[in-house]
Amino acid sequence: MPFLNDQNRMWQDRARQVADKVVRPLARKYDELQEYPWEIKEALAEAGLFGVWIPTEYGGAGGTVLDLALVIEQLSRACGGVGVMYCVNALGSFPMLVGATEEQKKRWLPQIAKGEKLIAFCLSEKFAGSDAGSMRCQARKDGDHYVINGEKKWTTNGGVASIYTVFAVTDPASKSRRISAFIVEKGTPGFSIKKVEDKMGIRCVPVVESHFDDVRVPAANLLGGRPGMGFKHAMQTLDFARPGVAAQGLGLAQGAMEYAVTYALRRQQFGQNLASMGVIQDMLGSMAAKVEAARSLIYRAATAVDLQDVESINRLAAMSKSFATDVAMEVTTDAVQIFGGYGYMKDYPIEKYMRDAKITQIYEGTNQIQRLVIARNLIKDAGRFASIDAYIPKESYNAYHAVGDDELSAVRGRTEPQSSESR
Ligand code: CAA
Repeated sequence: MPFLNDQNRMWQDRARQVADKVVRPLARKYDELQEYPWEIKEALAEAGLFGVWIPTEYGGAGGTVLDLALVIEQLSRACGGVGVMYCVNALGSFPMLVGATEEQKKRWLPQIAKGEKLIAFCLSEKFAGSDAGSMRCQARKDGDHYVINGEKKWTTNGGVASIYTVFAVTDPASKSRRISAFIVEKGTPGFSIKKVEDKMGIRCVPVVESHFDDVRVPAANLLGGRPGMGFKHAMQTLDFARPGVAAQGLGLAQGAMEYAVTYALRRQQFGQNLASMGVIQDMLGSMAAKVEAARSLIYRAATAVDLQDVESINRLAAMSKSFATDVAMEVTTDAVQIFGGYGYMKDYPIEKYMRDAKITQIYEGTNQIQRLVIARNLIKDAGRFASIDAYIPKESYNAYHAVGDDELSAVRGRTEPQSSESR
């Protein structure tokens, strides 16, 4: 990648080494056990990877979102589960970076940067997934505390994390200032994990239901110290984090493609290896082009975040997330196809890539939501090129044959099928 700088390459190399030496050999074990891979987490912490996205003044390495994406890509190339087990800590801590007070940043970020404490992001609920704003979990002010009641669904890192960024309704009557974010620490009375999900993929990282029964947190844990900013902070967080999910998809696609081409060179059928067959080359060529396209888009989106290009972040983050994770699903599925019957078997490494890829199209906003975000941006910006409307011919009715509104309704009434009630 010619446009990567020395710092980018340093993080990329460091992550690649951990991925090759530690992650790949253990990927299958933790997928089977469905247990948190503490030994991998220690290796990531030792390599300083938990500090990548955290500024130096809060104990981090002061890296960029592009650095973070490069690390996630390398880890996910070896194991998609480890990719998310790592990057969900960025998702959990971005609300602090976008909205916390100095005091809050200094209190919690250094522990995350060192990898001493893991963090989770509690936004979704059973009945509030894509429509995040319709959440019901409530936080009521009580003196110098808030009391949180409700449930959160799909909390990735739940149970193993020590810190939770929790979004709750503080002003049910308000339309745009309804939600606030709080930091809740593990062990706070009333906070519990009630269900650990049994998942198709990303099995090494827990995804849980978190329950809040009269959980009292000091008002000092209200993110940013001002209520009502939660939804904005959540949306800004997702803009920052989505290139990371995209990078997870990219790593999975890259890793699956590498396995596919390696196997295609080894596997003999009809007196030749699969890689020398035109049908397989067609698949490999298409996989490689998609992977490279996804990579370019992700690096572009991550750079937009790093440059604080506010005009572009929202749409590019959504584009990179939806495009790269769709590529992940397509490429991992094709890789299984190239492995044939063996690809479907658990003792081969490839089916795990396909299972791990599926969730990337769903979490941190389904790809349908991403395309809604992209379309909203496009429509919002359409005024910029409104003058080309003049080049689109406009049809008009001939005055003699035009049908007025009243007449049209009368015609409709005569021709449209009648409902059973009116029949
Ligand atoms: N940055 C800053 N502010 C933003 C914003 C952004 N990107 N997007 C919206 N806002 C603001 C708007 O300006 C608006 O503010 P005002 O009220 O002051 O005008 C407010 O937020 C509401 O905006 P919308 O009307 O656009 O909101 P909406 O209800 O239509 O929702 C949505 C928009 C894009 C669909 C949003 O709900 C969304 O992203 N949904 C998907 C949620 C999601 O990604 N969930 C995944 C959770 S994480 C996870 O998967 C678990 C895990 O652990 C991995």
